[in-house]
Amino acid sequence: MKNLIGIEDISVEEIDELIEKAKDIMKNRDKYSEKCKGKILATLFFEPSTRTRLSFESAMLSLGGNVLGFSSADSSSVQKGETVGDTIKVVGGYSDIIAMRHPKEGAPVVAEKSTTKPIINAGDGGHNHPTQTLTDLATIAIEKGRLDNYTIGLCGDLKFGRTVHSLVTALSRYKNINYIFISPKELTIPDYIKKNVLEKNNIKYTETTDLEGSIDKLDILYMTRVQKERFFSEEEYIKLKDVYILDNEKLIKAKKDLIILHPLPRVNEIAVEVDEDPRACYFKQAEYGRFIRMALILKMLNIK
Ligand code: CP
Repeated sequence: MKNLIGIEDISVEEIDELIEKAKDIMKNRDKYSEKCKGKILATLFFEPSTRTRLSFESAMLSLGGNVLGFSSADSSSVQKGETVGDTIKVVGGYSDIIAMRHPKEGAPVVAEKSTTKPIINAGDGGHNHPTQTLTDLATIAIEKGRLDNYTIGLCGDLKFGRTVHSLVTALSRYKNINYIFISPKELTIPDYIKKNVLEKNNIKYTETTDLEGSIDKLDILYMTRVQKERFFSEEEYIKLKDVYILDNEKLIKAKKDLIILHPLPRVNEIAVEVDEDPRACYFKQAEYGRFIRMALILKMLNIK
């Protein structure tokens, strides 16, 4: 793997290796504190981010490396009309590895053609978010002890939620996973995921609008935000934004060993009262993101 553009760029064996490395990093922080001395990570975020950008930067700093970059297209020469290709060509000369987020689907493909430095897709439009998926898989592996044999409910904006698209693509390679897709009819999982990922691999799935009626079946509940920034109409967003709000009452029928995940940021879709429930794993999930990104940086820079 030279670049990480989609989760399909990385094999199941490599995912397992990264998760094991992340666990080792969590236990032995000092061992890794100078592994990237002299290396520079560029974080080029043409779209807003808290977790992904800062966990990448924290990851590189925790490995003894340095970081540079920008957190908005407005503070870069994109504002003057510079193309993604030219920006990457230039920043490739200033850094050893680049993590980029861009609102246009496919922008990381343009980027990988513009530099010899490794490119990591940190989210492209409503398409893919492979390092969030690595974070999600690490969380499931740590909290559940396995990556196969469970029922997962994915709830909310399954149409525009890029984390859902990458996660379903990744999980399709693991055994005996039963998917329940819970969304309003306007925000169902895209046909290309159904055809190219699920049906192609003979994976069974259920689609429903009913969160409460599904919750007792779930081992994992993956909640998502309705992606306001991808809507064409404010009216449509307002109509759909609060369709699902997970609260303590809805969790009464849920399994005792359910884990609740969310890529964050949360808006209204999980009531704050749920944070106290031991099944709520979304803040731990955000923290694991730092360690899996440390493991990823080491792998992509070929550092043991
Ligand atoms: N989960 C995630 O991608 O969060 P940010 O948008 O804050 O990076």
